[in-house]
Amino acid sequence: MKKILITRKLIKESEDKASKTFNPIFNSNDELYSQSKVIEMSQGCDGILSSLTDKMDKETINKLPDTVKIISNFAVGFGNIDLEAAKKRGIAVTNTPEVLSDATAEIGILLILGACRRAAEGIESAREGGWKWSADYLIGKQLTGTRLGVLGMGRIGQKIARIAKSLGMIIHYHNRSKLSEDKEQGAIYHDNLKSLFSVSDVLSICCPATKETENMINKETVEYFPKGAVITNVARGDIVDDDALIDALNRRKIYAVGLDVYKNEPNLNPGYLKIKSAFILPHLGSATKDTRIAMANLAIDNIDEFFKTGNCINKVN
Ligand code: GLV
Repeated sequence: MKKILITRKLIKESEDKASKTFNPIFNSNDELYSQSKVIEMSQGCDGILSSLTDKMDKETINKLPDTVKIISNFAVGFGNIDLEAAKKRGIAVTNTPEVLSDATAEIGILLILGACRRAAEGIESAREGGWKWSADYLIGKQLTGTRLGVLGMGRIGQKIARIAKSLGMIIHYHNRSKLSEDKEQGAIYHDNLKSLFSVSDVLSICCPATKETENMINKETVEYFPKGAVITNVARGDIVDDDALIDALNRRKIYAVGLDVYKNEPNLNPGYLKIKSAFILPHLGSATKDTRIAMANLAIDNIDEFFKTGNCINKVN
């Protein structure tokens, strides 16, 4: 049986499946391994089942033992792994697409609702007590009739677009390529960022973090939005230049943000904490039991498929 280092504790059902599929090394205390610990623990292993909290950069990958042939990431995103470095060492990298699209889209909608309808301020006031209802108390932005820009119309973006449309939003999107009409479902395509942002009363960031998307929201692009726009991010923090966004919030150019992901998690930029209208969550996108089990099972199946066939449908490098 193949020996696999599983860097984070999984839900019991998934650990049982891993034990049946290969010879796993579990992390029963769910310790956050340092890069050197991952290198040390993977000695003699055939593969690593990593998580988005493991920074598998070039230096780490270059020090992995030659026996490691696959890094199966327990996430759809793989910005934590240097794909090129892995490829150069003949290490396959896989991810877990599709199984988390529904759960993540739900959080994407929560971010839109939470930011537009001032949920952060509302929760704080309700907890504090003594709030006084009045005709203009905590007036928010209504979704019905509002334009939603979807940046990245993959599976998660499409699902968010479908739900948002059912809430009465008018959907615009930017993607590397225009979708077929059945996938578009009436959404309006923009072939460049400026064009999309300029019609986005609300933006939902759903694209992967890559070199091309890094800091796509920045000092320049934030100016493309209509005044008082709302920006939400269910994808990755790397897509946003935090200082530019926080400055735009402080200037009221941007009205509110809904964020589930951050640069340098869990240490989000403290500037966000000072902004009352910031509706912020601790990376909950895929956090439902069914989804986490499905993701872990897929990460296990990816390893199994790779060793049985020499390839894997979810290989990303
Ligand atoms: C979650 O953020 C994931 O990429 O799976």
